[in-house]
Amino acid sequence: MLAIEGLAVGYGPIPVVFEVSLAVGAGEVATLIGRNGMGKTTTVRAIMGLLTPRAGRVRVDGVDLAGHPAHRIARAGLGLVPEGRQIFPSLTVTENLIATAADRAAGSRVAPWTLARVFDLFPPLAERRRAWGRTLSGGEQQMLAIGRALMTNPRVLILDEATEGLAPTIRAEIWRCLAALKAEGLAILVIDKDLAALGRLADRHHVIEKGRIVWAGPPDALTPARAARTLGV
Ligand SMILES: Nc1ncnc2c1ncn2[C@@H]1O[C@H](COP(=O)(O)OP(=O)(O)OP(=O)(O)O)[C@@H](O)[C@H]1O
Ligand SMILES: [Mg+2]
Repeated sequence: MLAIEGLAVGYGPIPVVFEVSLAVGAGEVATLIGRNGMGKTTTVRAIMGLLTPRAGRVRVDGVDLAGHPAHRIARAGLGLVPEGRQIFPSLTVTENLIATAADRAAGSRVAPWTLARVFDLFPPLAERRRAWGRTLSGGEQQMLAIGRALMTNPRVLILDEATEGLAPTIRAEIWRCLAALKAEGLAILVIDKDLAALGRLADRHHVIEKGRIVWAGPPDALTPARAARTLGV
């Protein structure tokens, strides 16, 4: 569903990502893991068309969209839950969800997302549907950020540090939700530091070091030594 090949990207003259290749299919979860500043968010920005790649391909269902504008890439079926959530503070929960809603891309195999479905997935959001974005707790903001990405009816959902800074019960809730979305056939690319939770959910890890994928494989092949090095602990 999503295949990245040889992606290179930077900021102005400064190269940051040199060689990232990864793939995730429908009903699969792939991860991009690595220490702070290794290029995870930069990779995601390039995938989404928010930065222009210097090289490489970003194929969505076989079509290379590298270098295309962000709105086209979103419309092709990539939904992003950005680092830092970035919900609209002066819109209500419902307005946040409607703001970026889009019709399902042709050929999508998953059921269309509606307000009612998002509220079913995240009952706490339903209770706060008329609350301003800025008044939400961190966990509620994160649920809203995921709900907002789902309302674009993505075929591929990309989450950049979606459980960061959340209480353990809320994190468990997010992981439960991602498992349900995977079971529905969504392709999911997740960046996170919770290797234990990722190990239960993911089909394939991709370890990034200084802008290069240095290891890829199934979670049970990630040795404790590699895991420790990956997260710098
Ligand atoms: N807007 C920017 N302009 C210039 N350099 C940047 C910019 N954003 C990030 N960088 C640099 O690019 C490198 C990779 O940053 P990036 O945010 O992609 O890392 P990351 O793997 O997502 O880290 P973290 O785990 O902290 O989120 C870092 O050295 C960072 O300082
Ligand atoms: Mg980041």
